[in-house]
Amino acid sequence: MLTIAPSQGYRTPMRAIHGDLAARLEKSDRYDALLMGIASVLDGEANLIARMATVASMLNDAFETFFWTGFYVVDPVKSDELVVGPYQGTLGCLRIAFGRGVCGTAAARQRTVIVPDVQAFAGHIACDARSRSEIVVPVVDAGGKLIAVLDVDSRELGAFDEVDQAGLEAIVSRVFAPPCQPASR
Ligand code: SME
Repeated sequence: MLTIAPSQGYRTPMRAIHGDLAARLEKSDRYDALLMGIASVLDGEANLIARMATVASMLNDAFETFFWTGFYVVDPVKSDELVVGPYQGTLGCLRIAFGRGVCGTAAARQRTVIVPDVQAFAGHIACDARSRSEIVVPVVDAGGKLIAVLDVDSRELGAFDEVDQAGLEAIVSRVFAPPCQPASR
């Protein structure tokens, strides 16, 4: 959705509106292509680590703004804690309790959290001080059980919007909660 502040709307040059819309459409198209690409690479591969590693790699490679891209998985022996999983980027924190930081908040609420400015998010966990904005998407399996969160950080402020949310949610849903489970090899 394109939002324009009412007080400034009439003064916003049409070129800027079209540029913004075009950028959003281009990003949306890129997510669509990425979804097809990831699904194709993972066709027939049931291993969860292979699936997460592939998603992290392909996402990180697709968007220059992505600085840290990866998963925190629900610890099978401590179900109120996330432990770092496959990722691309600089060193990530190892463990995050449910309810802590952006990842723990998304896990506890089982809802996507977009943080335009991490310094304005109370309790944000700074694994790398260069991260400025962040999006965290819950990952549920085909039975609706939370198994992980997908965390993407950017060095730019306000790097993520509802287009990223829709694109990332579609990818994790397709990869981790497909209507038909992939065949094991
Ligand atoms: N910033 C996250 C921690 C994970 S790192 O960004 C890789 C958080 O607040 O949960």
